[in-house]
Amino acid sequence: MIGRWRRANGDIAWPAFSLLIRASMSRLAYLLTLTPLESLRLLRRRLPVLRRGPDWTAVELLSSAKHGRGIRFVELLLRQEAIVRRQVPWTNLDFENRRVVEIGCGPLAGFGPLAIFRGAASFESAEPEWNAQLFAGEAVADRYLRILHADLVALYGPHMTFPEFSQALDERMTIHRMSFDQAPFNVPADIVLSQSCLEHVFPLAATVERLARIQTSETRFLHLVDFGNHYPTVHPFEGLYDQPPAEYIARRGQAINMLRKPDVAQLFAAQGIAAHVISARIVPGYPGPIHTWWRERYDDDALFTQLILIAGPKG
Ligand SMILES: C[S@@+](CC[C@H](N)C(=O)[O-])C[C@H]1O[C@@H](n2cnc3c(N)ncnc32)[C@H](O)[C@@H]1O
Repeated sequence: MIGRWRRANGDIAWPAFSLLIRASMSRLAYLLTLTPLESLRLLRRRLPVLRRGPDWTAVELLSSAKHGRGIRFVELLLRQEAIVRRQVPWTNLDFENRRVVEIGCGPLAGFGPLAIFRGAASFESAEPEWNAQLFAGEAVADRYLRILHADLVALYGPHMTFPEFSQALDERMTIHRMSFDQAPFNVPADIVLSQSCLEHVFPLAATVERLARIQTSETRFLHLVDFGNHYPTVHPFEGLYDQPPAEYIARRGQAINMLRKPDVAQLFAAQGIAAHVISARIVPGYPGPIHTWWRERYDDDALFTQLILIAGPKG
């Protein structure tokens, strides 16, 4: 009979099968919302041999609910600092005259425009998908930076006019189109940030090692790491724990590195970076299968923590 999967102990695995169908349906629904270019990019990321997708286009980025809103980075920072402050002593980041570094800022410079508007002396990032020409084009200036500038003025006051803002971005922002561990940063950094990046880095150890070399004990940092499956499924861990991580990565390509909270915490500790590792979203009650590989190595906290913030020092 179609879909009747018999387990080793003879039970029929209907629940596992229906979960599989549900996961496939929600993935399909998600895929149908994407433009052809976005689908191609996703497909290429998921295939082990073809890592990078096609370059972003301005139309695609500016019509994206995620990428098209520059103020998203301000909202993220406000939320993340509020979560950190609830758990450890923390003074909000002050960008004035600071050298700011971001790992994997994304195609529209991530926290860069916010940092520069708030007075950063410099903003540097390493982003393998960076396209300087696209960022310097009219579409990004008119439809992204102008609105972002207006939002920043409303929030923080008239620090600079739009032409001054554009000039400051030109002069004080440097984004290297390469992996973070290879980038020639002007060290040391005063502030280091990353947003949903560390879970995508292969191998993460080399990047944390590089971080340790551009930081001092005074460098303030805030990293958001997302351990979910990165699909809009009902449960953020759907499909992740059905098999050991190497099998998941072999099937789907190097999209997420499958490390969990204790692994990332350990990489920072191994480099002597004193960090608070703060859970920012725990989603218990995952009903799907969990392979013994995961159960033997991780407790529930590690398995069901979706978001963490890695922060330090308090400032
Ligand atoms: C989910 S995206 C997040 C982008 C951006 N931070 C944001 O929130 O919009 C992950 C980013 O990490 C970047 N990335 C992956 N591996 C990297 C590496 N080794 N060094 C620097 N960036 C990397 C990718 O190119 C991608 O832009």
